[in-house]
Amino acid sequence: MPLFFRLAGLATCFLLTVPAIAQNGPQNLEYYPTNMTRGEIIAEMRHFSFALGVRCEHCHVERTDGRGFDFASDANPNKEKARVMLFMTDAINSQFLTELADRADPVVEVTCKTCHRGTLQPRLLWQELLLATHESGPEAARDKLTELQENYDNSGAYDFREWETNVVAEELAKEGRHEDAIAIWMMNAERFPASDAIQSGMAESYQALGDTLGAIQAYEAALALNPGRNDVKRALAGLKGE
Ligand code: HEC
Ligand code: HEC
Repeated sequence: MPLFFRLAGLATCFLLTVPAIAQNGPQNLEYYPTNMTRGEIIAEMRHFSFALGVRCEHCHVERTDGRGFDFASDANPNKEKARVMLFMTDAINSQFLTELADRADPVVEVTCKTCHRGTLQPRLLWQELLLATHESGPEAARDKLTELQENYDNSGAYDFREWETNVVAEELAKEGRHEDAIAIWMMNAERFPASDAIQSGMAESYQALGDTLGAIQAYEAALALNPGRNDVKRALAGLKGE
């Protein structure tokens, strides 16, 4: 086939398909450029879904005729929240990070997953456990920890190391909730039996409750695990009246 006809064929092909693309193309974009194709938008949407650990229906409503989703509709309030997040993430990258006197090379781009890490409400582990304790007590924190470990272990969504869970007990102690703090220290001691920091933290809460025997036992446990703790030696001497 002569080149001319092949080109002409291509051109008609474009003429026929362009209106069809326009019809199926996105109808209601406020953040993304309106010339983005449906395929490009859906690729972005997949990122959202992974970053937040949700499916399309979290932000989109079904069509009234039951034939799939009405993606252009704004009837689902979560879609508007996600829009705010799109503008916010854009502002972080294009307005705030560009204000730094000098930047990492290459620059670090903030994405949904930078904060969300596969969770819808991007709380840190200590925030989740403190929330559970406030709502329903330290046993709930233990259940929450087990649940999150089962669901998110290895995903990087939560930091399951010792210090992150010690923060929960420290926060409860600051609030004067020493019984709850001790329950969390005990949970942490089961997970990290070699930690002297957990034992000495627990001792402080016993002391705050006026439980001298409990405090002495916990300080002694801390010292057995780490004989170099001079602060613990001093605290013990004080408690024993030496
Ligand atoms: C976290 C919320 C969220 C999730 C999850 C999500 N979307 Fe979206 N979607 C949006 C937002 C916000 C827009 C509008 C973007 C804008 O205003 O530029 C949008 C727009 C779209 C559009 C363009 C609609 C139009 O005609 O304007 C399509 C198509 C779409 N989404 C498909 C999907 C698919 C498929 C999935 C699942 C893989 C998905 N979305 C998951 C929030 C979400
Ligand atoms: C700088 C950190 C950060 C970035 C980046 C970020 N988010 Fe968020 N997002 C949050 C925080 C914090 C909340 C919880 C706000 C609240 O309700 O207190 C949240 C809440 C949300 C919610 C509502 C969750 C709910 O409770 O139903 C959605 C949806 C969401 N983000 C989507 C996104 C999407 C999509 C992106 C990327 C375009 C994104 N976020 C980027 C921090 C971030």
